[in-house]
Amino acid sequence: MTSIPKMIIDTDPGQDDAAAILFAFGLQNQKLVDIIALTCVAGNVPLHYTTKNARIICDWADKQNIPVFAGANKPLIKTLVTAEEVHGKTGLDGVPLHEPQTPLQTEHAVSFLIETLKKAQPNSITLCPVGPLTNIAQALSMAPECIQAIKEIVIMGGTFFEVGNITPSADFNFFVDPHAAKIVLQSGAPITIIPLDVTHKACLSIKRVQALRDLPNQNGTRLADILQSYERFDTQKFGLEGGPLHDPCAVAYAVFPELFKGKEVFVDVETCSELTQGASVVDWWHVWGKPKNAFWVNEIDDEQFFSYLTRAIATLP
Ligand code: BDR
Ligand code: CA
Repeated sequence: MTSIPKMIIDTDPGQDDAAAILFAFGLQNQKLVDIIALTCVAGNVPLHYTTKNARIICDWADKQNIPVFAGANKPLIKTLVTAEEVHGKTGLDGVPLHEPQTPLQTEHAVSFLIETLKKAQPNSITLCPVGPLTNIAQALSMAPECIQAIKEIVIMGGTFFEVGNITPSADFNFFVDPHAAKIVLQSGAPITIIPLDVTHKACLSIKRVQALRDLPNQNGTRLADILQSYERFDTQKFGLEGGPLHDPCAVAYAVFPELFKGKEVFVDVETCSELTQGASVVDWWHVWGKPKNAFWVNEIDDEQFFSYLTRAIATLP
């Protein structure tokens, strides 16, 4: 019998992060994943909002027992770039927000990651970072021995065949902290990357949002409201029919890898160039002959993905 993945979600909520966390909590109710903790990072909005939002999302899902940790409040080297134009000032535009009941842990997210991974069984924990990689890079560089416990790091970030969303060549997560992304990619840990190449094939539509709204629970309506506010930006700016649902794709990969296709490749991240900082360079045809360091995902069964998402959200209050 295969055991269910034990997962830590490293996140910067963020509207699609909220969708990813609610999805993961629904999968936990379905006994398909075990969420150990949420570790927060500055990204879509500053750290005090991302930690507060993570705690609010735990309240919504009645998961006040999930520990929430605050991590890095800025990237390793660069100045923080945020995305309020997409996610709103609070990061969770579209729904009313309350003072969270879920406590904020006092330990720093990076020290929690290090302590947890150091004592965990080999290959037992899946990390699912869906924001800038600052916390993960710090943990892996401060304590490389942590890698032994990592079953897989499923990263939402990067883009290669698809154009960028924050610059012409970079996705937001790699652009905000390219130095962290580089450290993680060079760490030797088992890595899967969920880039824009695949998330742009997992787009919302009126029907998909309505399926959530039609659920008889509060979180179905709530997520539909968040996503309706979220996709407005992408549809206006990129002319897409519905916004790509980035972060939930990473959660889906960790639990349902059979929905995805990709290829083992060598990937690196540009850290220096003014023109292409944060761009992920993928050696798709192995022309450099360098050792492959990641599984790069580029295909998704989007119908099945949205069906699993809706089913998982249905298990929430
Ligand atoms: C990523 O950027 C953020 O705005 C989203 O939450 C997602 O993690 C996509 O590039
Ligand atoms: Ca995110």
